[in-house]
Amino acid sequence: MTIQRILVIGAGTMGRQIAMSCALGGYTTVLQDISGPALDAARTELENWSASRVAKGKLSQDEVDSALQLLSQESDLTSAAKDADLVIEAAVERLDIKEQIFAQLGQITAEHAILATNSSTLPSSKVAAASGRPDRVCNMHFFNPALVMKCVEIVRNADTSDATVNAVTEVAQRLNKQPVLVNKEIPGFIANRMMGAINKEALNLAQSGVASIEDIDTTARTALGHPMGPFELMDMVGLDVVDFIAQATYAETDDEADLPHPLIVEKVAAGKLGRKSGEGFYPYN
Ligand code: CAA
Repeated sequence: MTIQRILVIGAGTMGRQIAMSCALGGYTTVLQDISGPALDAARTELENWSASRVAKGKLSQDEVDSALQLLSQESDLTSAAKDADLVIEAAVERLDIKEQIFAQLGQITAEHAILATNSSTLPSSKVAAASGRPDRVCNMHFFNPALVMKCVEIVRNADTSDATVNAVTEVAQRLNKQPVLVNKEIPGFIANRMMGAINKEALNLAQSGVASIEDIDTTARTALGHPMGPFELMDMVGLDVVDFIAQATYAETDDEADLPHPLIVEKVAAGKLGRKSGEGFYPYN
């Protein structure tokens, strides 16, 4: 099937940048959120980002104008969903809320529409049944910042059809992303499993006094060629998110090794959540 219209649910950090990526890919895109202020904040951020792209000579004025024209915002889910060929859900990471959204989408979207979740912790099989069309449900997992990071993990559940995988793969390619196919649902998929292993080692090294967080980050950047060190990255992702991912993984695996690291628990309890709260492992202005 040909996808022309995309609905992105959730105007948070991920949803707004996924929506802009879709619009830049030439798709008619609706960004939906029940919060009007969240939609307004998303629009402002995307307009500022567009202006800076033009100022840096990375995109032309025409490119950003046509993307911003293709991108509309909507607070009512039913009217936002009526013409969608593909829905990318990037709402809050709560199973009860996602189940409710997928059940509603099963009723209000066209029969052919594909329903994808951007969740990093909830595999699509958890919401597929609620939608009533499990063959057209999968994860499409983008990375933060979604306008920059190339990878999109496409995770199929046991019922996801080949046609669905092919259609979302084509969309990811048109967004100039690099799709990778995860054939089996597994906690953390590919990237978060690898990132979790690196983070755990970095946290253990810091906790045992082997090196400072600054030197561990410097090592990751200058010895391993990572764009950011693990502590810088955790601060960017949000320590509450790191904590939540670990807890969700533990809930699936029942393996105590997957529990949130004590240093993360300590930071979250102190309200030090990373860049968003002004302090995490590092202070921010
Ligand atoms: N939004 C949009 N664009 C952004 C951005 C943001 N928040 N942050 C940086 N950029 C853009 C900049 O505009 C710049 O663009 P140009 O080079 O085209 O002008 C480019 O990214 C590089 O930015 P900077 O020069 O400011 O800084 P940098 O070179 O250090 O790059 C970075 C910043 C792209 C974030 C880079 O450090 C990086 O790739 N870090 C690793 C990010 C990562 O690992 N993300 C995955 C997180 S895990 C996840 O998302 C999964 C999950 O489930 C939690």
